[in-house]
Amino acid sequence: MRIGMIGYGKMGHMIAQAARLHGHEIACTIDPFAKDASCVTGDPEKMKSCLLDSGVEGAIEFSHPSSVFGNIRTIIPTGIPLVVGTTGWHDRLDEVRASLEESETSLLYSSNFSIGVNLFYRIVSEAARLMAAFDEYDVALFESHHNQKADSPSGTALDLAKRVMDNMPRKTRLVTDCFVRKPEADELHLSSVRVGAVPGTHTVWFDSAADTIELTHTARNREGFALGAVRALEWLTSPDAQGAKKRGVFTMKDVFNDL
Ligand SMILES: NC(=O)c1ccc[n+]([C@@H]2O[C@H](COP(=O)([O-])OP(=O)(O)OC[C@H]3O[C@@H](n4cnc5c(N)ncnc54)[C@H](O)[C@@H]3O)[C@@H](O)[C@H]2O)c1
Repeated sequence: MRIGMIGYGKMGHMIAQAARLHGHEIACTIDPFAKDASCVTGDPEKMKSCLLDSGVEGAIEFSHPSSVFGNIRTIIPTGIPLVVGTTGWHDRLDEVRASLEESETSLLYSSNFSIGVNLFYRIVSEAARLMAAFDEYDVALFESHHNQKADSPSGTALDLAKRVMDNMPRKTRLVTDCFVRKPEADELHLSSVRVGAVPGTHTVWFDSAADTIELTHTARNREGFALGAVRALEWLTSPDAQGAKKRGVFTMKDVFNDL
């Protein structure tokens, strides 16, 4: 597939490498500040020409929260299927959905493209569903990240907590602060630590008087995000179960539901 990259920073380069390893061609790279991009521009009309003139069949956007929404609005009218990794625009999803309907094309977004994390979501959901039947097991979450991370808890930890609560009706309230009292039975504790250079570790504990079941995902680097974004674009540009072109908004959940 001929792929266009919008945003050619650390992730853009990593995705381009992963895409080539998967047999794809990087037909154009667009970035107003990256000197090695094939189109050094942030101008919407020039961006469109870059994508269309180079025969791009699918595009991947990893730029900056301040530019992502404008880029999405520029790309949708080209009809090119788009994968978006940049966050910070999800509150404007309805506007995006409306313009996708007009242009009859598709967009897939996720705040975590890691294949391993998305598989881990499924594993944790299933584990929580099983544990729901056994009252003797309590559950808690723990996450650690590098000391440059701005937010806490991580978005991934919050997604995991939601999956635990969706599947264990006895846990109805999430607590992310320190406990200075005993937790109530319906409270789910999620704790975070920031230290050194940890790329990201997420643990879900199921604990009883007799034993502990501990599920941990440990990220080693950011390559998992890059490969996941490529896999997402491959899925988005492939026909649906009825053999038709995919249209509308999708997430990684749709990709994994098809597995
Ligand atoms: N969803 C995921 O799984 C996932 C994973 C990793 C990173 N991210 C997000 O992806 C984004 C990029 O991450 P990064 O590490 O590559 O950052 P980066 O700073 O290395 O690269 C961002 C690039 O975007 C470019 N840019 C700025 N304005 C632009 C515009 N108007 N049009 C096109 N490009 C523009 C910058 O020049 C820069 O080269 C961040 O928002 C990050 O949080 C998402």
